[in-house]
Amino acid sequence: MTIFNLGSINADHVYRVPHLPGAGETLAAHSLQTGLGGKGANMSVAAARAGSHVAHIGAVGKDGLWARDRLMEYGVDTRHISSIDTPTGHAIINVDDAGENAITLLSGANQAIPIASIEQALSLGTTADIFVTQNETNAQADAAKIASTLGFRVCYAAAPFDAQAVERVLPYLDFLILNEVEAAQLEAALSTRIDAMDVTDIIVTLGSKGARWINAGAGIDQHFDAINVTPVDTTGAGDTFTGYVLSALDRGLSMGQAMSLATRAAALMVTRMGTADVIPDLKEVEAFSGV
Ligand code: RIB
Repeated sequence: MTIFNLGSINADHVYRVPHLPGAGETLAAHSLQTGLGGKGANMSVAAARAGSHVAHIGAVGKDGLWARDRLMEYGVDTRHISSIDTPTGHAIINVDDAGENAITLLSGANQAIPIASIEQALSLGTTADIFVTQNETNAQADAAKIASTLGFRVCYAAAPFDAQAVERVLPYLDFLILNEVEAAQLEAALSTRIDAMDVTDIIVTLGSKGARWINAGAGIDQHFDAINVTPVDTTGAGDTFTGYVLSALDRGLSMGQAMSLATRAAALMVTRMGTADVIPDLKEVEAFSGV
């Protein structure tokens, strides 16, 4: 089975800073680390490291061929990543001493993914496959509609959160992942409780409080505890969680097993500085029980 991921690919410039900068402040960073990122790329790497075949659908500029190569080195199928005449997306990420971050994005090629390449990629799928996307690319709703029509299990990770973007894909979704604050914003925007939305499976991540899985049709509203760790860098932990959940489901595990595995993967990720380049593999996650 394949996970098709319509997702962003960024060059991440990660600055370690004593605190997140305020308005008008000039701040000296302790260090700079540059690597592969983007919520989409992070999810693809996580799912590939968790054991799945992942076909990434995206775009980079001529300056980003290294990113495509790196995804391939991490086990991701990169045949549906277009090389276009728009610069590759990038992110400026400030990470403070408590591991919290503030991210500035320039979308670049992520907002110019050719529709024909999306259609061509999805035409190769089967009804046993999963489609996932996030809110960092163009064509999210069009792609979700095609994937739904073709019978994929369609998942949306609602980050960066925008209620209107969620509304556009909502009719096609089987699976929605979002955090607690985003769930409250979506409830307000739609005037509907999160557990009454017309999506088969919903996961609400709760940070250090764990995560909640809702499958209203089956009468399930289940809580999963987080694993306590000392955070070094929380960037990419949510993406790692999503990639691991999808991979586990793709490999036939139950949602409970998928969430337990993903919780461990995200906790381990929080102890590492960086994004796609430091996402743990399945062996590391299975050996990890907290620090
Ligand atoms: O979720 C973390 C990611 O958000 C980073 O890798 C950055 O590129 C942005 O997309």
